Amino acid sequence: MYDFSISTDQSPDILYGDLITAALALTDGEPDAIANMANISALIWQYIPDLNWAGFYRVMDDELVLGPFQGKSACIRIAMGKGVCGAAAATNQVQRVADVHAFPGHIACDADSRSELVAPVCADQRVIAVLDLDSPLPNRFSADDEAGMTKLVAAIANKLG
Ligand code: SME
Repeated sequence: MYDFSISTDQSPDILYGDLITAALALTDGEPDAIANMANISALIWQYIPDLNWAGFYRVMDDELVLGPFQGKSACIRIAMGKGVCGAAAATNQVQRVADVHAFPGHIACDADSRSELVAPVCADQRVIAVLDLDSPLPNRFSADDEAGMTKLVAAIANKLG
């Protein structure tokens, strides 16, 4: 059993610091990328409030394929460059979208989603996956969330591919 006792009621620096410590502990010594993505999705789902989807898409043969996640069943394959996830993977840039309805080509996997944060996962100078977070609240993700999630995926990228 894992019990990280992370309080969500604290500054983003401390919250994301605690999440990274927990993510490193969860993936320590475990080489299986799918198992690690599953546990990281669950960790984020448990400690980041106001999400309706949290998980990974993996880059496979130049498209994104659904990986481990928490939330409703989602679209399985996304072409590179399509939607928010495809844009993050194609550009290797975090996508922080305050209003998904205003994002050209947004792919609605869950009609409840109003805002989205997608962080590319890089290993050996290559995007190997993206971490996708959706919220039912508009403008849910701050610059601190973007910085925190970017640090989180960078800290464990070698355990996700
Ligand atoms: N909204 C994403 C698709 C994935 S789901 O949100 C889980 C997109 O536009 O790429």
